[in-house]
Amino acid sequence: MSGRTSSKKSSATSSARPTRARPVLVDVEPDTLNLDPDQVEHAVRRTPGVRAIVPVHLYGHPADMDPIYDIAHRHGLAVIEDAAHALPAWYHDRMIGAPAAGFDQPNLVAFSFYATKNLTTGEGGMLTGPSELVEPARVWSLHGMSHDAYDRYTSNGSWKYDVVLPGFKYNMPDLQAALGLQQLRHLDAMQRRRHEIVERYDTAFGPVQELETPYERPHVRSAWHIYLLRLRRERLRINRDAFISELKKRNIGASVHFIPIHLHSYYRNRYGLRPEQFPVAQREFERMLSLPLSPAHSEEDIEDVIQAVTEIVQTNLSRMRTVA
Ligand SMILES: Cc1ncc(COP(=O)(O)O)c(C=O)c1O
Repeated sequence: MSGRTSSKKSSATSSARPTRARPVLVDVEPDTLNLDPDQVEHAVRRTPGVRAIVPVHLYGHPADMDPIYDIAHRHGLAVIEDAAHALPAWYHDRMIGAPAAGFDQPNLVAFSFYATKNLTTGEGGMLTGPSELVEPARVWSLHGMSHDAYDRYTSNGSWKYDVVLPGFKYNMPDLQAALGLQQLRHLDAMQRRRHEIVERYDTAFGPVQELETPYERPHVRSAWHIYLLRLRRERLRINRDAFISELKKRNIGASVHFIPIHLHSYYRNRYGLRPEQFPVAQREFERMLSLPLSPAHSEEDIEDVIQAVTEIVQTNLSRMRTVA
């Protein structure tokens, strides 16, 4: 396990900077909003010196890993998966974080246990991968020391240690790990409740033509970290921002996951990014919002959300629909 390394959605991109790597951003697939493998292939071909692909399993829905591993294999690239949302998620029969059979390139998977995540330790996370990569990461995560305190101070341990690297302090403290172990016991039950809520929303919003409910591709199981609702703008007289304000007036807290990286000033300025380079991300961002989704929500909470969304849609149907 490792402690927190960076914050928020630009994590995958910002974590490249301290290593002096240059992130090359590509657009996403319209249904899942995950990395588009075709775009990755083009980017790898036209960019000299690419070393790694960093797919995000956004909202807990696994990225399309077979073509991504294939690209990595053909071009000799590492794959570092951002699984911050993806505990527990499955791609075909494999749990995200488990080794991908036959994939021969370096592969690490990073999970987040930040306070909002499906399983939380308050802060912190987990890294999975082959021991030849995870063990050095463990050393980097605690001052570059060859043994952690537990090894040194228990009866089986030794007081001797060596600093082998100029490491960080990203280790997971025992108190947080204790929280995580308790959470782990409840994970199945918490996931069942998430699924129930997702089903309630899907049943309520699936038939509403003005709304687009989230996708789950046939060969995956999403961790359902976030419930994404997309507005069919051509059918509504209300835009996304106003929709969220209307929800807020009804005491429903909705959010937007996420503001695309190309719109953040640092990345925009540093890498000269323009919205036209990411048409899918830009278009989907403008019509997306995320609804409350937590195992802690009661039936009444979910009913309130459904009622509020339905009411806002009904009062904001576009003229076309009203006349029809
Ligand atoms: C997609 C994604 N990646 C990475 C992170 C960073 O995780 P952490 O806050 O544990 O560093 C987050 C956090 O919200 C996230 O949403």
